Amino acid sequence: MYARRSIKSSASVPLIQVQCKGPNGSGPEWLPLKQDWSSRWCTLPDRFTEEFSQRIYDFNTRDSDVFLVTFMKSGTTWMQELAWLLLNNMNFEAAQSSYTMIRSPYLEKSAIYSDGVDYISLCNDIQTNPRFIKSHLPAQLLPPQFWKKGCKIIYLARNPKDVVVSSFHFLTGLDFWRGSLDEFVDDFVADKMAFTSYWAHVIDFYRMRNEENVFFVTYEEMSRNLKDVVQRLSRFLDCKELSESEMDKLLTHLNFKNMKGRKFGNSTGLLSTLRKTKDDFNFMRRGIVGSYKDELSPENRNKIDKLTERFLEEYGVTESEIFGSME
Ligand code: A3P
Repeated sequence: MYARRSIKSSASVPLIQVQCKGPNGSGPEWLPLKQDWSSRWCTLPDRFTEEFSQRIYDFNTRDSDVFLVTFMKSGTTWMQELAWLLLNNMNFEAAQSSYTMIRSPYLEKSAIYSDGVDYISLCNDIQTNPRFIKSHLPAQLLPPQFWKKGCKIIYLARNPKDVVVSSFHFLTGLDFWRGSLDEFVDDFVADKMAFTSYWAHVIDFYRMRNEENVFFVTYEEMSRNLKDVVQRLSRFLDCKELSESEMDKLLTHLNFKNMKGRKFGNSTGLLSTLRKTKDDFNFMRRGIVGSYKDELSPENRNKIDKLTERFLEEYGVTESEIFGSME
């Protein structure tokens, strides 16, 4: 069902690559995408064993489930907070008394952090309705039941250069990575960073963006016009229309500075209980579009742009069609 191969990278945890061959050997035939899946390898920690992949494959969904799928550092927590509030009748009180990551658990987290919790079982046993589950896995490694009619999938994408910068700070801050930004970029473009290939991850969902159960949106759209994203997402999730004052309250709650300042809006504290963090580590770092502009050298930008051009050529789509112009 799954093929795996080991790789060498500068990450401080051993990484492998996993491919879904599907029960018939020709890839995940349950996805509404037809393509040759033999090129789709996903880099993951080696804790993502055969048995672990099988448990993800066997994960039972419910018709009312909502899943949030992202490539890491794409604004997942921001979207989690937004969608959780819409799905939970704007319960700001609950949102202000526990971490987003707790209210909306992470399906494959046990393969990333070792905190003794079995997150697949935890997600399985959620009693509240609907369940709102996060995953960073690419389409082909998600549980096939995700695609069952009724389940809703929100896919949030962010431009690759900002993802690289944000990931570098995050992974070095948590000691998942030891090395320079130059080395990090080299591993990113060689698909040697967890969850890469970045572009395969994004493009497969971009191509499924018109599926009835998929809501494809970008961090850049959220930054440009959050109100519009809230309105569209609310319709997708079949939530009640928000009054003007509810909308104002929600936008204020989701504002970067406000989230950063709230104990349970900023996951820095929670993460430092899971891993030893650098003194200057802050999960809520800059929260802007284009932080690569003053953080990535022209050489590193060029390497990522070349990867983008090479990958997207086959699909006849440009980066700015997906994310809008960043100039
Ligand atoms: P930066 O490191 O560029 O600041 P994820 O939740 O997928 O790990 O993504 C984290 C990124 O989203 C970080 O980006 C973080 O600052 C940003 N982010 C989190 N909450 C945000 C908010 N309310 N508004 C804008 N960006 C936010």
